Order: sequence, then structure tokens, then C-alpha cells
Amino acid sequence: MKRVLIVGNWKMFKTIPEAVNLVNSIKAGVHKISNCDIVACPPFTALTAVSELVRDSNVDLGAQDMHFETEGAFTGEISPMMLKDVGCRYVILGHSERRAYFKETDELINKKVKAALKYNIVPIVCVGETLEEREAHKAFEVVKKQFDYSLADLDAAAIERVVVAYEPVWAIGTGRTATPEQAEQMHSYIRRLLNEKYGREVAARIKILYGGSVKPDNIELLVSKPNIDGALVGGASIKAESFIQIVKNSLPSEIKSNS
Ligand code: 13P
Repeated sequence: MKRVLIVGNWKMFKTIPEAVNLVNSIKAGVHKISNCDIVACPPFTALTAVSELVRDSNVDLGAQDMHFETEGAFTGEISPMMLKDVGCRYVILGHSERRAYFKETDELINKKVKAALKYNIVPIVCVGETLEEREAHKAFEVVKKQFDYSLADLDAAAIERVVVAYEPVWAIGTGRTATPEQAEQMHSYIRRLLNEKYGREVAARIKILYGGSVKPDNIELLVSKPNIDGALVGGASIKAESFIQIVKNSLPSEIKSNS
């Protein structure tokens, strides 16, 4: 049975009191669920408060970005050591918003991936094409390049600790989800790239998440696809009810009824 991973990317939303409320509601709504991995990624300012609240719960803590150096004169940046210190088990890297607005390159993302692994933080590495690229029939080529360069120089032991997230840029915050078939097509392509590089056994163990307008009413079909192992949720993760419902609807049907 597939164990799904659902990650909430809160983006630049939530003050500390709001974050505390949200995580408390999420915890209350999912505490009985043991067949799913659940992660909340609040903004940096709320990490400490949320970390205290998720300790001893079935919700893990993640950050939305980090620098690749351990420490130094990098004004405004947060290091992997600091994320570890605050209790992060995961970090989102190479999100399309970071690539687009902060000009992050695959080479930079690769440095961050290696730094996260060094600190035993699971990198959730985002790839995905823009609408223009999809319409130009370049989606697979773009994703392959992002895959090759942002995940460069990782051996099998390292790649097994990485989560890949396919987030087509045209589906983020637009309400325009990729159809489960469109998503599965790219996920199975990413699985093939992993197969070619690391062999079938290793590739089968790596989680590939889908992100882009995931909602309670589309998650079930998405995770029913063989190569979709969970979701990276934006907008619907900052409201407790919709995030809890996404988690519940992602469960295999035989356990849905008990949660
Ligand atoms: P939405 O779920 O709001 O489309 O955002 C997806 C996303 O960017 C998650 O990282």
C-alpha cells in the first residue's frame, strides 16, 4: 500500500498567532491518521512556535527555502544548521516562485540540496514548466534539465533521501490543475529518469509529489495514479479544513472510513 506524503507550503502567509491557530487545528484534525506523512512549512518567523507545537505529533516541520552555507556573512539568509536547530525535517528547494522572482538557478538549487542532505534535512526539490514552455511542447525537456542539474552529483544513498515535486507553473495558484493524466505522464517520465540513473529499485522508493491547485476534491484521483506519491499544497494548506480534508481524501479507501 502506498504511503502518501502531503506537504503544506504556507508561502508568505501567517503571523505567529495565526500560524499557532492553524497548526493546532491541523493537529486536531489529523491526530488519528497514521498512514500518511504530513508536513507543514510555515514562514521562517513562525518556525519556532510551530516547532514546539508539532513535537510529539504526527505533523512534521519543514521550511520553504535556505542558504547552502552553514554560517557566514550572508545578510538575510537562513542556514541548514539553523533549520536543523529549530526542528525542521524537510525543506522546499527550487520552488518556481524562487526560480522566477529570486532568479535561483539549477546550480544554486543543487548546492542547497547537497547542504540539506549534509544536515539530514529532506530536500523537497521542485521542478516544472511554464505555460509558454508547455505550449511550445518543451515541458519534458525543461523538466529533464531541471532534474539533471538540480539533482546533479547525488549517489543512490543521497537520492533516496530526496523528494521530487512536480509543480507545473501554470497550475500554481491558478485553479487550473493538471489533469491526473497530465500529471501522471510527467511523474512517470521523472520516474524513468530516476530509473535510468539509479536503477528500478532505488527509483521506486523515491517520492514524487504533485503541486498546483491541489484541493480536497482532486487529491483522490491524483494519488490514485501509480507515480503520484502525494502533494505539495499551497493555497489549500493555509485553511485547516481544506488541508485536513486533503490529507483524509488522500488515504487509501480501505482506511479512509476509520479516520
Ligand atoms: P497552489 O496549491 O496554491 O496552487 O500552490 C502550489 C504550490 O506552489 C505549492 O508549493
